[in-house]
Amino acid sequence: MMKLFFTKKLLLWNKKYNRREMPWKGEKDPYKIWLSEIILQQTRVEQGWNYYLRFIKTFPTVQQLANAPETKVFKLWEGLGYYSRCKNLIAAAKIIDKDYGGRFPAVYEEILGLPGIGPYTAAAIASFAFNLPYAVVDGNVLRVIARIGGITAPVDTAKGKTLLNKLAFELLDKKQPGLYNQAIMDFGAVVCKPKTPACNECIMHENCSAYQLELVADLPVKEKKIVKKSRWLYYFIITYKNQVYIRKRTAKDIWQNLHEFLLVEKDSPVTKKNWLLLSPVKQLLHPNEAVVTQVSKLYTQQLTHQTLHGQFIEISVNKAPNLGADFTGVTYAELGNYPFPKFMITYLQEKNVNLSQH
Ligand code: ADE
Repeated sequence: MMKLFFTKKLLLWNKKYNRREMPWKGEKDPYKIWLSEIILQQTRVEQGWNYYLRFIKTFPTVQQLANAPETKVFKLWEGLGYYSRCKNLIAAAKIIDKDYGGRFPAVYEEILGLPGIGPYTAAAIASFAFNLPYAVVDGNVLRVIARIGGITAPVDTAKGKTLLNKLAFELLDKKQPGLYNQAIMDFGAVVCKPKTPACNECIMHENCSAYQLELVADLPVKEKKIVKKSRWLYYFIITYKNQVYIRKRTAKDIWQNLHEFLLVEKDSPVTKKNWLLLSPVKQLLHPNEAVVTQVSKLYTQQLTHQTLHGQFIEISVNKAPNLGADFTGVTYAELGNYPFPKFMITYLQEKNVNLSQH
């Protein structure tokens, strides 16, 4: 029933009213489509735009990405967060380079088999680059279909997902899947928006169940509430002569492979007077030789499943600190050569540290 009008009207909307421009739109190179989609899983279009342009300028082909020094790739990714995506990007590029002779696979199952590529990204690449009939199902698509079809099954349950995936495939224009997939994503972003949908101007509203039943604000239904964990991050910037000490994060956690200052993490806040007593700070720094020279404001960053609070404590020492082999002493001018979490970048930029590479 929904199929009768939806696919046709969506393509009509796309042709007549869709003015959304993006650098990867109409792109046929699967490598570039893949890059844009992975970046867009991390950020909004406006911010992703520049990241995308820098990536394809630095690495115009998948071979160049596959053979690049990893730190250079992480540096380009810096600020996007969720660094396992960047690791997977590198791993998949290497597989395409080695196992597929540098040519992106043109079969859905093979695309899906690459690290970091799930059903959404595989459908995007398969349809945009190879015009294969796979429907993209992301948050935009779920919202549009749930509203138009008046689907009240929660979209984050197995039952709801199965139903919506099935509908998404039925609605897909099998002759022009690339055009259709881009159109439904644009429609979700421009018209059928999460909080302020433009229902009055929407050419679908006569056929939209949610609009007719006044359920627009209630759809899509989500069953699970995200429980956020709080993390308190105390960064100790130990300064000796003109050097500060950093190390690479290796644990399987946020920001793996990025660098940081000496960090003490807690699940609740610690008062100022106890900072120097924290382990391992207390053991590493002799109290008579360490002076707190500056304390930053409290920074906060929201991730999907956690809230991060952090503070930077600058400490000057008058003897070379023995922090262990993980740490490297670098000057402020050299900091720009290392990739850091956005959290630290914000702080360093506010201190006017020049983070360009040398
Ligand atoms: N979000 C993710 N992929 C997108 C695309 N190709 N166009 C618009 N928004 C997107």
